[in-house]
Amino acid sequence: MALLKSSKVISSLGNISPSLGVLSSRHSSWWGGLQMGPPDPILGVTEAFKRDTNPKKMNLGVGAYRDDQGKPFVLSCVRKAEALIAAKQLDKEYLPIGGLGEFSKACAQLALGAESEVLKSGRNITVQTISGTGSLRIGANFLARFHEGSRDVYLPKPSWGNHTPIFRDAGMQLKGYRYYDPSTCGFDFKGALEDISKIPEKSVILLHACAHNPTGVDPRPEQWKEIADLVKQKNLLVFFDMAYQGFASGDIDRDAWAVRHFIEQGHNIVLSQSFAKNMGLYGERVGGFTVVCKDADEAKRVESQLKILIRPIYSNPPMNGARIAATILNTPDLRSLWLEEVHGMANRIIKMREQLAAGLKSQGSSHNWQHVIDQIGMFCFTGLKPEQVERLTKEFSVYMTKDGRISMAGVTSGNVGHLAEGIHAVTK
Ligand SMILES: Cc1ncc(COP(=O)(O)O)c(C=O)c1O
Repeated sequence: MALLKSSKVISSLGNISPSLGVLSSRHSSWWGGLQMGPPDPILGVTEAFKRDTNPKKMNLGVGAYRDDQGKPFVLSCVRKAEALIAAKQLDKEYLPIGGLGEFSKACAQLALGAESEVLKSGRNITVQTISGTGSLRIGANFLARFHEGSRDVYLPKPSWGNHTPIFRDAGMQLKGYRYYDPSTCGFDFKGALEDISKIPEKSVILLHACAHNPTGVDPRPEQWKEIADLVKQKNLLVFFDMAYQGFASGDIDRDAWAVRHFIEQGHNIVLSQSFAKNMGLYGERVGGFTVVCKDADEAKRVESQLKILIRPIYSNPPMNGARIAATILNTPDLRSLWLEEVHGMANRIIKMREQLAAGLKSQGSSHNWQHVIDQIGMFCFTGLKPEQVERLTKEFSVYMTKDGRISMAGVTSGNVGHLAEGIHAVTK
């Protein structure tokens, strides 16, 4: 009987199989013309690193902080804030469109300074965003919809790889200004001023507030002053990207100097902030987007439009990371602990820069590696050429992007010697 039933099933399946064939071929045709896209360059480096069996292998591609044992680092202030939040047994209701109010307020205060005239006069609007990337994208969308000047955004050459698709996908047009000088591995101040002076009025200029990615090269305060004056003269809208506040010098106020100087000089900037690096909240996706306005009334109008823009994209931001960051920023003990920990991370990186330069010298390298020490923040633009990078990977299992950028956060006292040996061998 059972046999009879199953044979009936088989025969009925046999009857429908041709139509299944038609169905599957019709479905597969929806994306038939789609080309395979190129892999993300940094994730591609990580994949190759994972396959390597050399015990001395190093992954210097990815921009995430590691401790001196090479392990991911969760800050103690974050663990403590998490415990405080867990003890409160808070609900999981939706946040408002602009995010957690106590976070946004503290976020703006961190960037602009507690004594900021902008905050006191209420002429800023700050919304919580999905980390720095989400903030840049909301900013780019906002400019594309409302900026009355040009659609052109001028990026430093080079800039963080994601800036181009973020602005392009939002409908802006990408332009560039000289920034990095390969002959000195430093800032091309003259080239930057020359290029900025030719930017048409009312265009948008993107500036990295500190710890420029990928070069690790920042203008000095007196250079920032000249840039601010010229940008004012040209009437450009300034978009500051501050993804590394505290991570460059170890001091949150020093790292925010350029942003605060521009505001003091009368620039009504827009600003992206990320808490991925300075609080180690990478996967929590905590960030902020600020528009500094003429007055409080303008700020209210901008806020209303930001809400209208955000609502159909993700409705409202996630709450967990924002609660952690707000708890740290608004609890004096945790805030002090955080400042110590940021300082500790920045200092470990500065120490690794010194050890790498010293290691290259003791290997007998005759090149000038001063830029390794002078550059700042998570990344070092070594000046290695693509073929040297290839050799370093092949012969020493050191993984990095082809532009010669290394993440100093992945260098430890245990592996800095191996890195120096490798860099010396391929640059002899
Ligand atoms: C210059 C710059 N801006 C923004 C970001 C955004 O990072 P996230 O979206 O993780 O906050 C990064 C991250 O690497 C960056 O380097």
